[in-house]
Amino acid sequence: MAGENELPGTKPLPWMEWTRLSAGEPYRILFPLGLFLGALGVAVWPLFFFWGVAWAPPPISHPRILIEGFVGSFVLGFLGTSVPRLLEVKRLSPWETGAVTVAILAVGLLHFFGVAGWGDGLFGITLLFFLWRLAIRFPSRKDNPPPSFVLALFGVLGAGTGALVESTERMGLTLSPCLRQLGLLLLYQGLPLLPILGVGAFILPRFYGLPSRETLPEARIPTRAWIGRALAALAAASSLFASFAWEAAGASWRGGLLRAGTVVAYLLFAIPASRELFARGTVAGCARLSLLLSVLGLLLASLSLPLRAAWLHLFFLGGAGLLILTVGARVVLGFSGRGELLAGRYGPLSQAKWWILGAILLRVAADVEPARRDLLLSGASLFWLGALLLWSWAVLPKVRCPDAED
Ligand code: HEM
Repeated sequence: MAGENELPGTKPLPWMEWTRLSAGEPYRILFPLGLFLGALGVAVWPLFFFWGVAWAPPPISHPRILIEGFVGSFVLGFLGTSVPRLLEVKRLSPWETGAVTVAILAVGLLHFFGVAGWGDGLFGITLLFFLWRLAIRFPSRKDNPPPSFVLALFGVLGAGTGALVESTERMGLTLSPCLRQLGLLLLYQGLPLLPILGVGAFILPRFYGLPSRETLPEARIPTRAWIGRALAALAAASSLFASFAWEAAGASWRGGLLRAGTVVAYLLFAIPASRELFARGTVAGCARLSLLLSVLGLLLASLSLPLRAAWLHLFFLGGAGLLILTVGARVVLGFSGRGELLAGRYGPLSQAKWWILGAILLRVAADVEPARRDLLLSGASLFWLGALLLWSWAVLPKVRCPDAED
């Protein structure tokens, strides 16, 4: 492992220069924050079971810290870096990146200390602020974003709305159970799922050496091809929103089936069928596994209500979690002149994958074997923490290394 890490790449910048670079490339600061919150959000289980620490009930703080803190940091870090580059507009400025970073850290801490209403409200506002700062750059764009990013846009917009709905309920406004459930689905599942599909359609084919159908010739005015693909992404987003509404209205399994079906249909539409999809290599393997676990988790959760939360963790841990670490490794190593490390087997990511699989096993077992729930949940948390640690040890320091081309 040490030998692999000695391969060429740029050297770490002094802290002040790194801070300046992070403003325009927010993943450099938001990915480390996401990892911290990804650890904090699962640590609430052993902290509660073994030491009785419960500033907030873990069933309330855990999903929020994980989705708003961990997933939120990675989604905003990735989009905040890539969208201005793709549009060829001014990058985010220090105050914009600083505001988003401080807000997400505050969101995580508010949830950890049991102030969920404020945490959800601040998160909803942060997402809307982020979209607004990107939207004001749109008129000066030289190119359009990949059409599949329509899904990411709706994912962030839906999650922002869901967080605000949840916040108003927690602040004392009584909402219909159906609306509240819809808000939670948009937040918990919509935030990871729609950006994964939108960004995945653009980036995943490259993991297999395939051309991306979402990469179109540069054009400021949308071409027919762009509009066609954007409409397909819009149809997928609408179908996913309909699946959330269906589930919230009580038709759980129909909603879940529609969701899983839409994911499969959109992936088939976006990613060219090719033998290359069976390519070897850690990144290719992890991306394949995470898509498979996502679909399986969504399907099983809709078919077995008593184990719904357990099966959903196939999607949360194996789908969203593993894919975030895979794409994250690709971004961090690629932007520090170390992309070649990922060409074949990459030990730290491959080992993190096994730790995540262990976490999934224990997480599901915890709901199958309620008598041992505390031990199994704490064990699952430790496995997830192990995966984050392995990844952080090998990949995270490289957020301080500039792009080889800069
Ligand atoms: C291995 C560590 C994990 C453990 C032990 C764990 C445990 C749990 C438990 C016990 C619940 C049910 C809470 C309740 O009683 O309502 C839950 C719900 C949830 N977890 Fe996890 N979890 C883990 C990892 C994750 C990860 C990595 C994510 C996200 C990326 C996540 C997201 C969620 C969400 C969103 C819910 C709420 C699901 C819903 O009610 O629809 N979890 N988790």
